[in-house]
Amino acid sequence: MLKGKHLIDPSDFTRDEFRELFDLAHQIVKNPEKFNKSCEGKILATLFYEPSTRTRFSFEAAMLRLGGSIIGFSEPNSSSVAKGESIADTIRTIECYADIAVMRHPKEGAPRVATQWLNAMPLINAGDGGHQHPTQTLTDILTVELLKGNVENKVYGFCGDLKFGRTVHSFIKFLSKYEGVKLILISPEELRVPEYIREEVIKKNNVPCIEADKMEPYMGEMDFLYMTRVQRERFFNEEDYIRLKDRFILDKEKMKFAGPETYILHPLPRVNEISIEVDEDPRAQYFQQAKNGMYVRMALILKLLGIY
Ligand code: CP
Repeated sequence: MLKGKHLIDPSDFTRDEFRELFDLAHQIVKNPEKFNKSCEGKILATLFYEPSTRTRFSFEAAMLRLGGSIIGFSEPNSSSVAKGESIADTIRTIECYADIAVMRHPKEGAPRVATQWLNAMPLINAGDGGHQHPTQTLTDILTVELLKGNVENKVYGFCGDLKFGRTVHSFIKFLSKYEGVKLILISPEELRVPEYIREEVIKKNNVPCIEADKMEPYMGEMDFLYMTRVQRERFFNEEDYIRLKDRFILDKEKMKFAGPETYILHPLPRVNEISIEVDEDPRAQYFQQAKNGMYVRMALILKLLGIY
């Protein structure tokens, strides 16, 4: 039963709970209209302390397509945060008005701290600093299931900024619980996955894993290549960002190394790490992935509110 739970980290749900959620998401993909009155009278609050396009709009579209309503801010300075209000006071106030809330925050752990002040309203982490982004993982997994049936027994390549990439951390955390998963992690030395992901997630779960600094030799064996942006906003100095930002660019030439069913995913936004010429390739699935994000967030809202 997911009713009333928070989703802050992929480990907050069991495998059975994820299955329940994805089964509903598949029903929504097949027939979204069936659900268009399911959340009538319910309010979703979106609290975005950091910029977003996909996560905020897909949550808002999800609630609107379920027949519910939305309130919130996308610019914290337009709220009493600008007057120095604490997260605790903001979230306690939001619980007076909304049935469910989504929070993105630049500080790691901020959404988890916020849950301590809640009585009954479910809170969803929409990305906390360089830490976790569990609903992007829901988007990614639904996309994997729609393309290849299931997540097990597959080779997943991750490329780019694996150090600060919270979408990568959440995706790996989820995948590490499934049988037959192999990881190929491609990044510059400075942007490798954090120690806690390597030790407490990958090694602890005995997930076969290669760390490399080239994508071409491995692309043919990948079921999915998950490209990520080098995130300027997470760097402490501009020189390091400039030195590392163009190390991995997926273009038409490099796509020749990929298998016929190696699908290209990206949480987006992209800067230049995937050339736009790749968008026409049927293996490029990142815009469909963004669309799937709305369907799976519809399922998540319905489950946490206990409507389905
Ligand atoms: N994938 C993702 O989190 O995109 P936004 O930053 O646009 O929400």
